[in-house]
Amino acid sequence: MLKKSNLVLWGVVLFVAWNALILFFLWTRPQSSSDHSRLTEEVIRLAQDAEVELERQKDLLHQIYRYSALWNRRKATEAKRLHLSVASSAPPSTAAPLPRRSQISPDAVLPVLVIACDRSTVRRCLDKLLHYRPSKERFPIIVSQDCGHEETARVIASYGDAIMHIKQPNLSDIPVPTDHRKFQGYYKIARHYRWALSQVFRNFKYQAAIVVEDDLEVAPDFFEYFQAAFPLLLADPTLWCLSAWNDNGKEQMVDANHPELLYRTDFFPGLGWLLLSDLWDELEPKWPKAFWDDWMRHPEQRQGRSCIRPEVSRTMTFGRKGVSHGQFFDQYLKFIKLNDRFVPFTQMDLSYLKKDEYERSFLAQVYGAPELRVEELQGNQRRELGTVRVQYTTRDSFKAFAKALGSWTTSSPECPVPATRASSVSSSEAAAFT
Ligand SMILES: *[C@@H]1O[C@H](CO)[C@@H](O)[C@H](O)[C@H]1NC(C)=O
Repeated sequence: MLKKSNLVLWGVVLFVAWNALILFFLWTRPQSSSDHSRLTEEVIRLAQDAEVELERQKDLLHQIYRYSALWNRRKATEAKRLHLSVASSAPPSTAAPLPRRSQISPDAVLPVLVIACDRSTVRRCLDKLLHYRPSKERFPIIVSQDCGHEETARVIASYGDAIMHIKQPNLSDIPVPTDHRKFQGYYKIARHYRWALSQVFRNFKYQAAIVVEDDLEVAPDFFEYFQAAFPLLLADPTLWCLSAWNDNGKEQMVDANHPELLYRTDFFPGLGWLLLSDLWDELEPKWPKAFWDDWMRHPEQRQGRSCIRPEVSRTMTFGRKGVSHGQFFDQYLKFIKLNDRFVPFTQMDLSYLKKDEYERSFLAQVYGAPELRVEELQGNQRRELGTVRVQYTTRDSFKAFAKALGSWTTSSPECPVPATRASSVSSSEAAAFT
């Protein structure tokens, strides 16, 4: 602020000094000869000089005016920002504003951020990513490693320049409430995600990122899917992510003959997902200490927004070892079918997934289907009906139905957060079984 006021002051000083100089020059000019024509010439030149001089002074005044206007505007916005930051008690942002969703190009670079810790089997994840990746310029791979595990670090380093290897620097334990001691792992995961995403968006300044964990294997059309759905995410503010995962993607439950099917879901699936930089701007200041994915599913974060997800998953998890897996993996995750047929999504029209169009057709399909009771569905006796509808009324009845039909009921047997996956599945999502 001081600088701006100085500039204005200098402008005025310069203006006055210039005029003084001109006056001085004119006054002290030696009187020329008595030659008439020379005198006329001199007068004309003086008049021209004066004209040029006037122009110059006008410019100078203009500049002074411009600077002072700028300065006042600047003062006003600073005051406003100060006021706002006091009101919201948030620290004033020093970072330059990132491009908003509408300014992101549909051809933006989409880095793949691989979250790794101590599983050297990350090799399987990286091999598949590298194998199916159509372009290293469009999809650079960044492996972020936490946990300081030597063997895993060596595996990652063995890929050389094919990937970028970054390491979360803070390996210390995180102080947690005593009853959360066994959840230390979840705290470290949340810390790692926060650090890694901030590297991607703040440090490397990407406008979007695909997040993958070290125990995920991707399908042949994983990149094709994200590339095709990306413009949709940019165009539809009621979407906040693209996910490669179907929570109900068990082999017997998906329509494997239609791997091109995509849906909207109210439930944040994670497990191979794409977010935009503006979502990170929104989430970073309030990023939770632990259980980040369940936190994402709370209404305060989701704010009514949906994700796109495929009928047949484009990722599958192979990691039995992990903070939340184990028994859960054996019971559920290992039955998720990974798509094996390449679907040319980029050649297809995906506009049916935009909110208005989608709700019109999808809700008509759900409520146009005949209603059955769960018991009627169990023995597969009414197969001839094709798509049918099962109607639930309460959270408990949904859980009972889901259990009977083998779909998702809870996020994990070890999950310490009372919110379950089932509780936030939308009625439209849960109601249709084919
Ligand atoms: C590392 O993390 C711990 C626990 O969250 C924190 O207390 C400490 O300040 C961090 N250290 C650095 C250098 O950021």
